[in-house]
Amino acid sequence: RVMRDLTGISTLESRLKSEMGIARVVVVPGDSDVSPWVKNELGNACATSMKHRLSSDNIIAVTGGTTMAAVAETLTPEFGEKNLLFVPARGGLGEDVNNQANTVCAIMADKTNSRHRVFYVPDQVSSEIYESFIKEPLIYEVLGLIKSASMVLHGIGDAITMAERRSTSPEDMEKIIRRNAVGEAFGYYFNEAGEIVHKVLTIGLQLDDLTEVDTIIAVAGGASKAKAIRAYMKQAPRSTILITDEGAAKNLVQGF
Ligand code: G3H
Repeated sequence: RVMRDLTGISTLESRLKSEMGIARVVVVPGDSDVSPWVKNELGNACATSMKHRLSSDNIIAVTGGTTMAAVAETLTPEFGEKNLLFVPARGGLGEDVNNQANTVCAIMADKTNSRHRVFYVPDQVSSEIYESFIKEPLIYEVLGLIKSASMVLHGIGDAITMAERRSTSPEDMEKIIRRNAVGEAFGYYFNEAGEIVHKVLTIGLQLDDLTEVDTIIAVAGGASKAKAIRAYMKQAPRSTILITDEGAAKNLVQGF
Protein backbone atom coordinates (compact mmCIF):
# COMPACT_ATOMS: atom_id res chain seq x y z
CA ARG A 1 0.00 0.00 0.00
CA VAL A 2 2.81 2.39 0.95
CA MET A 3 4.62 1.63 -2.32
CA ARG A 4 1.44 2.26 -4.26
CA ASP A 5 0.90 5.59 -2.53
CA LEU A 6 4.48 6.66 -3.18
CA THR A 7 4.07 5.97 -6.88
CA GLY A 8 0.82 7.94 -6.98
CA ILE A 9 -1.28 4.97 -7.97
CA SER A 10 -3.88 5.44 -5.22
CA THR A 11 -4.29 9.06 -6.30
CA LEU A 12 -4.88 7.92 -9.88
CA GLU A 13 -7.41 5.35 -8.67
CA SER A 14 -9.48 7.76 -6.62
CA ARG A 15 -9.32 10.50 -9.25
CA LEU A 16 -10.54 8.13 -11.98
CA LYS A 17 -13.24 6.66 -9.78
CA SER A 18 -14.74 10.08 -9.12
CA GLU A 19 -14.30 11.41 -12.68
CA MET A 20 -15.95 8.34 -14.20
CA GLY A 21 -18.51 7.92 -11.42
CA ILE A 22 -18.09 4.16 -11.17
CA ALA A 23 -17.85 1.86 -8.14
CA ARG A 24 -14.13 1.19 -8.07
CA VAL A 25 -10.94 1.63 -10.09
CA VAL A 26 -7.86 -0.53 -9.65
CA VAL A 27 -4.64 0.56 -11.39
CA VAL A 28 -1.72 -1.86 -11.77
CA PRO A 29 1.79 -0.50 -12.41
CA GLY A 30 3.15 -0.40 -15.98
CA ASP A 31 1.70 -0.13 -19.48
CA SER A 32 0.52 -3.31 -21.17
CA ASP A 33 1.12 -1.75 -24.62
CA VAL A 34 4.84 -1.63 -23.81
CA SER A 35 5.27 -4.58 -21.41
CA PRO A 36 3.17 -7.64 -22.22
CA TRP A 37 3.49 -9.05 -18.67
CA VAL A 38 1.41 -6.13 -17.34
CA LYS A 39 -1.59 -7.99 -18.83
CA ASN A 40 -0.92 -10.77 -16.30
CA GLU A 41 -1.04 -8.14 -13.54
CA LEU A 42 -4.41 -6.96 -14.87
CA GLY A 43 -5.45 -10.61 -14.67
CA ASN A 44 -4.29 -10.93 -11.07
CA ALA A 45 -6.07 -7.74 -10.04
CA CYS A 46 -9.27 -8.95 -11.72
CA ALA A 47 -8.99 -12.29 -9.88
CA THR A 48 -8.66 -10.45 -6.56
CA SER A 49 -11.77 -8.36 -7.26
CA MET A 50 -13.67 -11.48 -8.32
CA LYS A 51 -12.74 -13.26 -5.11
CA HIS A 52 -14.23 -10.45 -3.00
CA ARG A 53 -17.46 -10.50 -4.94
CA LEU A 54 -18.24 -14.21 -5.33
CA SER A 55 -21.27 -15.58 -3.53
CA SER A 56 -22.11 -19.24 -2.95
CA ASP A 57 -23.64 -19.68 -6.45
CA ASN A 58 -22.36 -17.70 -9.39
CA ILE A 59 -23.07 -17.54 -13.08
CA ILE A 60 -20.14 -15.67 -14.60
CA ALA A 61 -20.54 -14.33 -18.14
CA VAL A 62 -17.27 -13.63 -19.90
CA THR A 63 -16.44 -11.85 -23.19
CA GLY A 64 -13.42 -12.73 -25.32
CA GLY A 65 -10.17 -10.94 -26.11
CA THR A 66 -6.55 -11.22 -25.09
CA THR A 67 -7.15 -9.47 -21.74
CA MET A 68 -9.88 -11.93 -20.73
CA ALA A 69 -7.56 -14.75 -21.83
CA ALA A 70 -4.93 -13.32 -19.42
CA VAL A 71 -7.52 -13.21 -16.61
CA ALA A 72 -8.28 -16.91 -17.21
CA GLU A 73 -4.63 -17.84 -16.71
CA THR A 74 -4.59 -16.32 -13.21
CA LEU A 75 -7.53 -18.29 -11.78
CA THR A 76 -6.85 -21.14 -9.35
CA PRO A 77 -8.74 -24.18 -7.95
CA GLU A 78 -9.42 -22.17 -4.77
CA PHE A 79 -12.08 -20.22 -6.72
CA GLY A 80 -13.92 -23.47 -7.36
CA GLU A 81 -14.73 -23.83 -3.65
CA LYS A 82 -17.68 -21.62 -4.56
CA ASN A 83 -20.20 -22.88 -7.09
CA LEU A 84 -19.14 -21.32 -10.41
CA LEU A 85 -20.61 -21.67 -13.88
CA PHE A 86 -18.79 -19.83 -16.68
CA VAL A 87 -20.83 -18.85 -19.72
CA PRO A 88 -19.59 -17.02 -22.83
CA ALA A 89 -21.27 -13.61 -23.07
CA ARG A 90 -21.41 -14.04 -26.84
CA GLY A 91 -20.52 -16.24 -29.78
CA GLY A 92 -17.22 -16.36 -31.65
CA LEU A 93 -15.53 -13.26 -33.00
CA GLY A 94 -14.21 -14.77 -36.18
CA GLU A 95 -10.76 -14.20 -34.72
CA ASP A 96 -8.07 -16.34 -33.10
CA VAL A 97 -9.79 -19.22 -31.31
CA ASN A 98 -7.65 -18.63 -28.19
CA ASN A 99 -9.33 -15.27 -27.66
CA GLN A 100 -12.91 -16.34 -28.19
CA ALA A 101 -15.33 -16.24 -25.28
CA ASN A 102 -15.98 -20.00 -25.53
CA THR A 103 -12.29 -20.78 -25.18
CA VAL A 104 -11.75 -18.30 -22.35
CA CYS A 105 -14.69 -19.83 -20.43
CA ALA A 106 -13.37 -23.35 -20.93
CA ILE A 107 -9.97 -22.32 -19.54
CA MET A 108 -11.57 -20.49 -16.58
CA ALA A 109 -13.61 -23.60 -15.75
CA ASP A 110 -10.57 -25.83 -16.09
CA LYS A 111 -8.38 -23.62 -13.86
CA THR A 112 -11.04 -23.47 -11.13
CA ASN A 113 -12.38 -27.03 -11.43
CA SER A 114 -15.76 -25.54 -12.26
CA ARG A 115 -18.34 -25.93 -14.99
CA HIS A 116 -18.80 -23.99 -18.21
CA ARG A 117 -21.20 -23.90 -21.10
CA VAL A 118 -20.41 -23.40 -24.75
CA PHE A 119 -22.25 -21.04 -27.04
CA TYR A 120 -21.63 -22.12 -30.59
CA VAL A 121 -23.19 -19.30 -32.53
CA PRO A 122 -21.58 -16.82 -34.89
CA ASP A 123 -20.88 -13.48 -33.26
CA GLN A 124 -22.45 -11.41 -35.99
CA VAL A 125 -25.67 -12.64 -37.56
CA SER A 126 -28.28 -11.39 -39.98
CA SER A 127 -31.67 -10.57 -38.47
CA GLU A 128 -33.33 -13.65 -40.10
CA ILE A 129 -30.72 -15.97 -38.66
CA TYR A 130 -30.98 -14.23 -35.30
CA GLU A 131 -34.74 -14.87 -35.10
CA SER A 132 -34.45 -18.55 -35.95
CA PHE A 133 -31.33 -19.18 -33.84
CA ILE A 134 -32.84 -17.93 -30.61
CA LYS A 135 -35.66 -20.46 -31.03
CA GLU A 136 -33.16 -23.34 -30.91
CA PRO A 137 -33.60 -24.98 -27.46
CA LEU A 138 -29.88 -25.26 -26.72
CA ILE A 139 -29.19 -21.67 -27.72
CA TYR A 140 -32.24 -20.47 -25.85
CA GLU A 141 -31.06 -22.27 -22.71
CA VAL A 142 -27.53 -20.83 -22.77
CA LEU A 143 -28.94 -17.40 -23.57
CA GLY A 144 -31.10 -17.71 -20.43
CA LEU A 145 -27.99 -18.46 -18.36
CA ILE A 146 -26.14 -15.50 -19.89
CA LYS A 147 -29.03 -13.17 -19.07
CA SER A 148 -29.15 -14.38 -15.47
CA ALA A 149 -25.42 -13.87 -14.83
CA SER A 150 -24.51 -12.57 -11.37
CA MET A 151 -21.07 -11.46 -12.57
CA VAL A 152 -19.86 -10.15 -15.93
CA LEU A 153 -16.18 -9.95 -16.87
CA HIS A 154 -15.44 -8.00 -20.03
CA GLY A 155 -12.78 -6.27 -22.08
CA ILE A 156 -12.88 -2.88 -23.78
CA GLY A 157 -11.24 -2.43 -27.16
CA ASP A 158 -10.08 0.38 -29.39
CA ALA A 159 -12.83 0.75 -32.03
CA ILE A 160 -10.73 0.48 -35.17
CA THR A 161 -8.56 -2.32 -33.77
CA MET A 162 -11.68 -4.32 -32.92
CA ALA A 163 -13.38 -3.60 -36.24
CA GLU A 164 -10.26 -4.78 -38.07
CA ARG A 165 -9.96 -7.87 -35.89
CA ARG A 166 -13.53 -8.88 -36.67
CA SER A 167 -14.73 -9.61 -40.14
CA THR A 168 -16.35 -6.17 -40.40
CA SER A 169 -17.91 -5.39 -43.78
CA PRO A 170 -16.48 -2.42 -45.73
CA GLU A 171 -19.81 -0.55 -45.23
CA ASP A 172 -19.74 -1.00 -41.45
CA MET A 173 -16.05 -0.11 -41.36
CA GLU A 174 -16.80 3.10 -43.23
CA LYS A 175 -19.61 3.91 -40.75
CA ILE A 176 -17.38 3.20 -37.72
CA ILE A 177 -14.72 5.58 -39.09
CA ARG A 178 -17.14 8.27 -40.30
CA ARG A 179 -18.95 8.38 -36.97
CA ASN A 180 -15.65 8.70 -35.09
CA ALA A 181 -15.97 5.55 -33.00
CA VAL A 182 -13.15 5.28 -30.46
CA GLY A 183 -14.19 2.40 -28.21
CA GLU A 184 -15.89 -0.97 -28.34
CA ALA A 185 -17.43 -3.30 -25.76
CA PHE A 186 -20.04 -6.09 -26.12
CA GLY A 187 -20.28 -5.41 -29.88
CA TYR A 188 -21.24 -1.75 -29.35
CA TYR A 189 -19.07 1.03 -30.80
CA PHE A 190 -18.88 4.37 -28.94
CA ASN A 191 -17.70 7.86 -29.92
CA GLU A 192 -15.78 10.12 -27.54
CA ALA A 193 -19.04 11.42 -26.05
CA GLY A 194 -19.95 7.83 -25.14
CA GLU A 195 -22.76 7.66 -27.73
CA ILE A 196 -23.43 4.36 -29.48
CA VAL A 197 -22.54 4.96 -33.13
CA HIS A 198 -22.68 1.37 -34.34
CA LYS A 199 -23.85 -1.96 -32.98
CA VAL A 200 -23.14 -5.42 -34.23
CA LEU A 201 -26.20 -7.66 -34.06
CA THR A 202 -24.93 -10.28 -31.65
CA ILE A 203 -26.61 -13.18 -29.93
CA GLY A 204 -25.63 -12.80 -26.33
CA LEU A 205 -25.30 -10.20 -23.63
CA GLN A 206 -26.63 -6.74 -24.53
CA LEU A 207 -25.74 -3.47 -22.82
CA ASP A 208 -29.25 -3.23 -21.31
CA ASP A 209 -28.83 -6.62 -19.63
CA LEU A 210 -26.06 -5.20 -17.45
CA THR A 211 -28.55 -3.38 -15.22
CA GLU A 212 -29.57 -6.76 -13.77
CA VAL A 213 -25.99 -7.83 -12.97
CA ASP A 214 -24.60 -7.57 -9.42
CA THR A 215 -20.91 -7.41 -10.28
CA ILE A 216 -19.45 -6.04 -13.51
CA ILE A 217 -15.69 -6.06 -13.91
CA ALA A 218 -14.17 -4.31 -16.94
CA VAL A 219 -10.52 -5.12 -17.59
CA ALA A 220 -8.60 -2.98 -20.09
CA GLY A 221 -5.11 -1.50 -20.06
CA GLY A 222 -2.48 0.14 -22.27
CA ALA A 223 -2.12 3.83 -23.15
CA SER A 224 -3.69 3.12 -26.55
CA LYS A 225 -6.99 2.17 -24.88
CA ALA A 226 -7.44 5.37 -22.83
CA LYS A 227 -9.89 6.94 -25.30
CA ALA A 228 -11.86 3.71 -25.58
CA ILE A 229 -12.12 3.33 -21.80
CA ARG A 230 -13.20 6.94 -21.32
CA ALA A 231 -15.88 6.61 -24.01
CA TYR A 232 -17.29 3.33 -22.73
CA MET A 233 -17.36 4.52 -19.10
CA LYS A 234 -19.82 7.24 -20.12
CA GLN A 235 -22.31 4.43 -20.83
CA ALA A 236 -21.19 1.89 -18.25
CA PRO A 237 -23.40 1.01 -15.27
CA ARG A 238 -22.31 2.96 -12.20
CA SER A 239 -21.63 -0.32 -10.40
CA THR A 240 -18.77 -1.15 -12.79
CA ILE A 241 -15.34 -1.98 -11.38
CA LEU A 242 -12.52 -0.98 -13.76
CA ILE A 243 -9.22 -2.82 -13.66
CA THR A 244 -6.64 -0.91 -15.70
CA ASP A 245 -2.94 -0.09 -15.83
CA GLU A 246 -0.85 3.03 -15.29
CA GLY A 247 -0.36 3.49 -19.04
CA ALA A 248 -4.09 3.86 -19.63
CA ALA A 249 -4.75 5.64 -16.31
CA LYS A 250 -2.21 8.44 -16.90
CA ASN A 251 -3.72 9.15 -20.31
CA LEU A 252 -7.23 8.93 -18.92
CA VAL A 253 -6.70 11.60 -16.23
CA GLN A 254 -5.30 14.03 -18.79
CA GLY A 255 -8.66 14.00 -20.55
CA PHE A 256 -10.67 15.03 -17.48
O1 G3H B 1 -14.32 -5.89 -26.68
C1 G3H B 1 -13.13 -5.69 -26.44
C2 G3H B 1 -12.15 -6.69 -26.68
O2 G3H B 1 -12.60 -7.90 -26.20
C3 G3H B 1 -10.80 -6.34 -26.12
O3 G3H B 1 -9.86 -7.26 -26.58
O4 G3H B 1 -8.44 -7.64 -24.58
O5 G3H B 1 -7.69 -8.35 -26.83
O6 G3H B 1 -7.79 -5.93 -26.25
P1 G3H B 1 -8.37 -7.28 -26.02
